[in-house]
Amino acid sequence: METKQSPAFGKETAVKLYDAYERSFPYLRLSLTEICNFRCTYCLPNGYQPQGKPSFMSLPEIERLVKSFENLGVHKIRLTGGEPTVRKDFLEIIRMIGQRKAIKTLAFTTNGYQLRDHAEEWQKAGINAVNVSIDSLQREKFHQITGHDRRDEVLEGVEKCLALGFKSVKINVVLLRGVTDVELDDFLNYVKERSLTVRFIELMQTGDNKEYFEKFHLSADLILDKLKNLGWYEEIRSFDAGPAQNFSHPDYKGSIGIIAPYSKDFCKNCNRLRVTAKGNLRLCLFGEFGVPLRPLLQHDEQGGALEERILKQLTYKKSSHFLKEGFTGMMSNLSSTGG
Ligand code: 5AD
Ligand code: SF4
Repeated sequence: METKQSPAFGKETAVKLYDAYERSFPYLRLSLTEICNFRCTYCLPNGYQPQGKPSFMSLPEIERLVKSFENLGVHKIRLTGGEPTVRKDFLEIIRMIGQRKAIKTLAFTTNGYQLRDHAEEWQKAGINAVNVSIDSLQREKFHQITGHDRRDEVLEGVEKCLALGFKSVKINVVLLRGVTDVELDDFLNYVKERSLTVRFIELMQTGDNKEYFEKFHLSADLILDKLKNLGWYEEIRSFDAGPAQNFSHPDYKGSIGIIAPYSKDFCKNCNRLRVTAKGNLRLCLFGEFGVPLRPLLQHDEQGGALEERILKQLTYKKSSHFLKEGFTGMMSNLSSTGG
């Protein structure tokens, strides 16, 4: 496979991962566990239900995986779950990845329940970017959505990350009809004096949430119209930007992002691959198959074979997720693949 190199990066980060549609993949989303302690209504309304005894990748397996992706030019890794911080060895995992020179951004997505108390040690270990899921700024609504009365400590965790100077702090808000639309002004206010991004994510249909989806799905167009009317403008996309659209406003310190997977060009800018907690490569969040990498994560000598398998699979990546057609692939909920 041809190795293209973006002029904006140094030699060491040449991305070797390209697909048939000229998209490159410098970004890996790595799920550490399917377990989550929250019960978000759109994701795990009945809480996490283990099927048998789950076995997630161990620290040495994760290390081999990360090394290979690094060799293939990945320079950003996001740790996801479930809730990645429920792993007892979370600190060791980030320490290990934090030491890898080519990984310039080590991010994680969290429900934030441990953020206030651990942000500092995680930052020291190598984390420099965080996405926190906060679907409502109202205490009671936050409780209803997540099953946990923890709004205050989660918001304190966000403040902590800002004070610590994280390179990037983002809040993920899933757009829910009758829930988010009524809080839009509060979210805009929230970014007025804070250097962070609030990202509105269109609710995605999964295998588990069909009825919920029909009741609560809200198009991002509503937010787009509102932003435009209020003088927000779309930022120029950087060449390696992912599928989010970002908006700024001269009177606001923070910014607003929109993730609209149902919009027509969403997949055009796809720049990420996923590996599930059980070590399956997923070419698309909604892809219908996972490629087992775990058998090639057992010895250090398997690195070459692992890289070959990843490169080969990439040639099968499709142009789009075909969600509009009602296709959800094998995705029952996002806790298994980390959103
Ligand atoms: N649709 C949209 N976003 C979802 N998330 C989880 N499930 C869904 C869904 N069905 C979000 C979470 C979290 C991120 C990882 O994905 O809120 O912020
Ligand atoms: Fe947990 Fe995230 Fe799913 Fe909420 S959306 S239940 S925090 S995995």
